[in-house]
Amino acid sequence: MGTEKRSYRVGVIKGDGIGPEIVSQAVRVLDRAAQAYGFSLEYVPMLMGGCSIDQYGIPLTQETIDKARSCDAVLMGSIGGDPKTSPWYQLEPSKRPEAGLLGIRKALGLFANLRFSVLYEDLKDACPLREDIAGEGIDFVIFRELTGGLYFGEKKTEVVDGEEKATDVLSYTESEIRRIAKKAFESAQLRRKKLTLVDKANVLESSRLWRKVVSQMAGNYPDVQVDYMYVDNAAMQLVRRPSQFDVVLTENMFGDILSDEASMVVGSIGMQPSASLAEGSFGLYEPSHGSAPDIAGKDAANPLATILSAACLLRYSLGETKAADAIERAVMGVLKQYRTKDLKADGDGTECVGTIRMGGLVADAIE
Ligand code: IPM
Ligand code: MG
Repeated sequence: MGTEKRSYRVGVIKGDGIGPEIVSQAVRVLDRAAQAYGFSLEYVPMLMGGCSIDQYGIPLTQETIDKARSCDAVLMGSIGGDPKTSPWYQLEPSKRPEAGLLGIRKALGLFANLRFSVLYEDLKDACPLREDIAGEGIDFVIFRELTGGLYFGEKKTEVVDGEEKATDVLSYTESEIRRIAKKAFESAQLRRKKLTLVDKANVLESSRLWRKVVSQMAGNYPDVQVDYMYVDNAAMQLVRRPSQFDVVLTENMFGDILSDEASMVVGSIGMQPSASLAEGSFGLYEPSHGSAPDIAGKDAANPLATILSAACLLRYSLGETKAADAIERAVMGVLKQYRTKDLKADGDGTECVGTIRMGGLVADAIE
């Protein structure tokens, strides 16, 4: 009893563009962490996105869904290509790479997407905000609802009165709101105990339901301070005073937009990990950024968001907290001396390195 080595199955979707390069570095770091902390990882490769279209004609197969379900967690790079040049975008929208991503989120019930924004001490010079603003510290997480709202509502394009009319329906049920709000409240309890619901309740009926459900739930979490903020104001506050945020809870589309803004606030989208969680411990982990086809294969991509996503995988799906902490410490240590191009500022005294070197440096820094 208790002497067996802990072992886990991790699905790996390398994806398109820079995906394969950044995932290789994250796997390298995971292997080192597993070795150092006494567990083993079995990797299960699977296709999704453009590479799945090339192989099977569709971006997501049942085989990939089944394989993912047989794993404890999935690590993903990024999917998609350049819409102007890639043949994948000649296909109808439901057959394009992005449809695979939305499909896997839905199929695996990944309703809670956590995107973290942390301003590391050593990256202060990469932060585009004024020093007095950044100086207050930035450390918040966006809980973005991921399987509902506009992304999954009824869609149609029709001709009405002689012109085209396109419709996307935005709807939420109480239970869809409650299950992610519960995760957000619980996270706030473990953090600085502040939750901000971002919505557009002055205009949207669905936002009014979010407010109602969240304010009802607030009574169960008396230690958490709850604020309500309109999304336009939130977009402004994220650059005006990001230190005010701890846990931000919001619906799918608002979360998509605000999380890109939030990533830049701490220096680069190349640093923002994300965790997409289902009920229970299963999750899919991917950087928030895209597949950057323009720099693919050039050893220029920043692998840190993927490496930090791998740390999230260890923390949230496998419960390997110490190994997760070790990866995050290693990243912080390496940033003292080394930067990828996206993070490099003139005269910051650091050395500019490529994707592979950065992965190796982080792996070697794991203690
Ligand atoms: C993201 C991406 C996706 C989204 C796209 C690629 C469909 O922007 O993960 O934020 O909008 O969710
Ligand atoms: Mg996005």
